Amino acid sequence: MCNENDGKCHNESRRDFLKVSGILTALAITPASVVKAAEENWDEGIASAIEKMPIKLEVNGVVHSLSVEPRVTLLDLLREQLHLTGSKKGCDLGQCGACTVHVDGKRINSCLTLAVMQNGKKITTIEGLAKGDELHPMQAAFIKHDGFQCGYCTPGQIMSAVACIKEGHANTEAEIREYMSGNICRCGAYSNIVAAIKEVKEGGKSI
Ligand code: FES
Ligand code: FES
Repeated sequence: MCNENDGKCHNESRRDFLKVSGILTALAITPASVVKAAEENWDEGIASAIEKMPIKLEVNGVVHSLSVEPRVTLLDLLREQLHLTGSKKGCDLGQCGACTVHVDGKRINSCLTLAVMQNGKKITTIEGLAKGDELHPMQAAFIKHDGFQCGYCTPGQIMSAVACIKEGHANTEAEIREYMSGNICRCGAYSNIVAAIKEVKEGGKSI
């Protein structure tokens, strides 16, 4: 039947109504995971449309000219583009210290900084500490004092420990514990880590 005023047939209006309500029902019952996946693809689409930026980094004494998406963290760049997997991704949130590296001699959590922000800087990772086959004194002290169990936090602990001494924050055991508190060890190797740091500090070797 058709409406004389608007010229629309009731069957069509009913069909339209069923079509719209069908779409709304489908949206309502779509699992959140599917919606999230669609959003992520959308993000990927936007990200790939953003131009990569050219940067230069000196990593462990080697200069790299790189092309980097602005959203990439320094940690992901080191691990995924330069294949330096010594720096670990524990939390990716700045809470565990497993990703600690030195930037121009200062320790930072590499998961908390974008690679493009470090353009032109000198980065040292755990791979850059030893001189050939000769371990860095802090690496040797960690081995001597059993400063690790599973070893996952160890690269970050060692990078932080070196910086802790250089900053002048390793004068007492309490100070070492305070200034190493950003580096979490799930295995609880803290007392041995402190012993290793104390030994290097008291040994007075240049680090
Ligand atoms: S991975 Fe960077 S602080 Fe945990
Ligand atoms: S040695 Fe296992 S987390 Fe520290």
